[in-house]
Amino acid sequence: KNGYFTYDPGFVSTASCSSRITFIDGAKGVLLYRGYPIDQLANKANYLQVCYLLLKGELPNKTQYKEFEYKVIHHTLIHEQITSLFNAFRRDSHPMAIMCGIAGALSAFYHDNLDIYDPEHRERTAIRLIAKIPTLAAMAYKYSIGHPFVYPRNDLSYAGNFLYMMFSTPCEPYKVNPVIERALDKIFILHADHEQNASTSSVRLAGSSGANPYACIAAGIASLWGPAHGGANEACLRMLEQIGTVDRIPEFIARAKDRNDPFRLSGFGHRVYKTYDPRAVVMRQTCHEVLNELKIKDHPILDVATELEKIALSDEYFIERHLYPNVDFYSGIILNAIGIPTSMFTVIFALARTIGWISHWNEMQEMPESRIGRPRQIYIGKPLRNVKVLGNR
Ligand code: SDX
Repeated sequence: KNGYFTYDPGFVSTASCSSRITFIDGAKGVLLYRGYPIDQLANKANYLQVCYLLLKGELPNKTQYKEFEYKVIHHTLIHEQITSLFNAFRRDSHPMAIMCGIAGALSAFYHDNLDIYDPEHRERTAIRLIAKIPTLAAMAYKYSIGHPFVYPRNDLSYAGNFLYMMFSTPCEPYKVNPVIERALDKIFILHADHEQNASTSSVRLAGSSGANPYACIAAGIASLWGPAHGGANEACLRMLEQIGTVDRIPEFIARAKDRNDPFRLSGFGHRVYKTYDPRAVVMRQTCHEVLNELKIKDHPILDVATELEKIALSDEYFIERHLYPNVDFYSGIILNAIGIPTSMFTVIFALARTIGWISHWNEMQEMPESRIGRPRQIYIGKPLRNVKVLGNR
């Protein structure tokens, strides 16, 4: 009993861990970060305030925020030797492949006297990751298009700096649009944490052995990449583009319902939510705000998404299975409108989720009762048997 929710014994026996960070009620569509509802945080806070909240448990006061923001801003530069690592990748590598490699490489840089049981070392690790992942993400994009890397600036906001590093060139500096900057900051907040999802569980399981935290984050990036998880935002936009027009929606709905067809509606359904994903509600509202700001009137992909949602939510196949749009359904449309390439969508998810991953890693190290994770299995293999004499020895 946590004062908010009473867990039935059956649930407790299946839970992989306990945590104070995020609460989800999948049946009611509730998502709380340290007790605060996600829609209030998305509309009233900024991403760095939410990072502080997830990591430390409370929203920062003005002094705490200024200090935290200063530390993050002054860790955004990347060691030039890491910059040279990019040359090891093919130019056409998927940016998530680069992020996996580079995040893992950080563990080769930040290991000397890293004591994971020292709170100050853990905080410095968290600050470095929050600060450097956006710079590395923008570098992965620049590398893929053959443009020079753009260094971070200390006079821009967190989201503004990322947009600047993504779209500025030496020939033409990028001017940050405040509406786009705010929309991206909201997208970061909506993706910041989500309890024990596959990628966070990967980080916790890797971290439970005492492994280097940067290597644990690489494990989280690897897991997030899959199309059933964070890769769904990229898969969803490609699906909407493949559907193309509203009149082709029934054909894809039929395929999604056909159990012999592996096709699933990307951006629909969730392991936990059996009603609307509360993040999708904020995301849809943000989508309309961005398209209005950019004066994008007719947006065929948005028309397809809106109609697909309407049709699916009135179809008994989806109703019976409690399949609703999730966080990935509208995010791709916003990122596409901002000019972020589809291949970078899951990198944006990883960038935003880094604070969730490192907050859970930090919480685990803080809990004295934490032990190495060791999931068990149901054995369905051969019964006990003996090796007969093997003629060929
Ligand atoms: C994220 O865990 C997290 O918190 C993740 C996340 C986070 O913030 O970390 O929220 C982020 O990963 C969101 C989910 C993104 N993935 C997608 O949008 C991919 C499409 N969705 C599906 O692959 C699926 O819905 C899952 C993986 C998301 C959930 O899978 P479940 O809960 O295991 O559901 P299921 O596969 O058991 O499906 C139950 C039924 C099945 O039909 P029946 O066997 O009962 O006949 O629903 C069907 C499924 O075939 N179904 C779908 C469907 N999703 C489930 N049918 C068509 N289209 C879909 N999208």
